Amino acid sequence: MTDTLTGKTALVTGATAGIGYAIARQLASEGAEVIVHGRNAERGAKVVQEIQNTGGTARFIAADVSDVTDVRRLADEAGAVDILVNNAGIYRFAPTFDTTDADFDDQINTNLRAPYVLVQRLVPGMVARGHGTVINVTTVAATVPAEGAGIYGASKAALELLNALWADEFGGQGVRVNAVAPGPTQTPGTLVFEDGLIEGLGKTTALGRTGEADEIANVVTFLASPAASYVNGTVVTVGGGYRAVHPAA
Ligand SMILES: NC(=O)c1ccc[n+]([C@@H]2O[C@H](COP(=O)([O-])OP(=O)(O)OC[C@H]3O[C@@H](n4cnc5c(N)ncnc54)[C@H](OP(=O)(O)O)[C@@H]3O)[C@@H](O)[C@H]2O)c1
Repeated sequence: MTDTLTGKTALVTGATAGIGYAIARQLASEGAEVIVHGRNAERGAKVVQEIQNTGGTARFIAADVSDVTDVRRLADEAGAVDILVNNAGIYRFAPTFDTTDADFDDQINTNLRAPYVLVQRLVPGMVARGHGTVINVTTVAATVPAEGAGIYGASKAALELLNALWADEFGGQGVRVNAVAPGPTQTPGTLVFEDGLIEGLGKTTALGRTGEADEIANVVTFLASPAASYVNGTVVTVGGGYRAVHPAA
């Protein structure tokens, strides 16, 4: 353990699995008290225990962030937060003609409205205390169109717009806002894809492979740290790099 984040409280949404889980463990190992969030209480308790077993401090709050009332309750129960990581997100891939109203609403509510409401509820306290930071987890599909990922990419593109706005809206009051845009990353969420979709996407990157959750978390942890004190309003792409455009064969 190191102590770059000692004395700070971090709320990591969607920390019971995947990228959020890696972020929660890393922030705790830097000394932050971590609020582990998700819906699954059993996995939440396990993550808290793992953090405690390695000398860290954590507690779990269950909330369904597709429900705006539950998002507000989560913010109230979290209390004073210095580091907000808006990581919880869902991806339901389908072509435009096949996208259901439910999938449209769930992705917008979970990926866009929940971060918005958490910022509304938690950043005023950061401003009052004169410091804080928000890190939004977006996706490379927010800037490069990905087949079947229209509403998913649009929900995260909107979050990237807010990321830039919030960096200015709160920056002068001591609150930095940045985003990390992961490329294809092996997580429990991507395990459900059949036909090697994630591995196939990994092969389209310049590094030719998928990412690990810890490779995404490394960058989130840097952005949360004092070492990133002059970094504000950026989107850091952590996606293995783009291939050059080649002429058609
Ligand atoms: N994996 C990738 O390839 C990739 C690429 C680009 C961007 N991202 C982004 O990275 C973030 C994490 O993705 P991941 O692949 O790590 O996801 P994951 O493995 O599916 O884990 C998702 C996490 O979010 C929580 N969550 C989902 N819906 C929720 C809801 N309605 N209410 C509360 N918690 C909810 C889950 O908690 P419970 O199960 O406990 O509810 C879980 O902890 C997402 O924002 C995603 O868009 C991922």
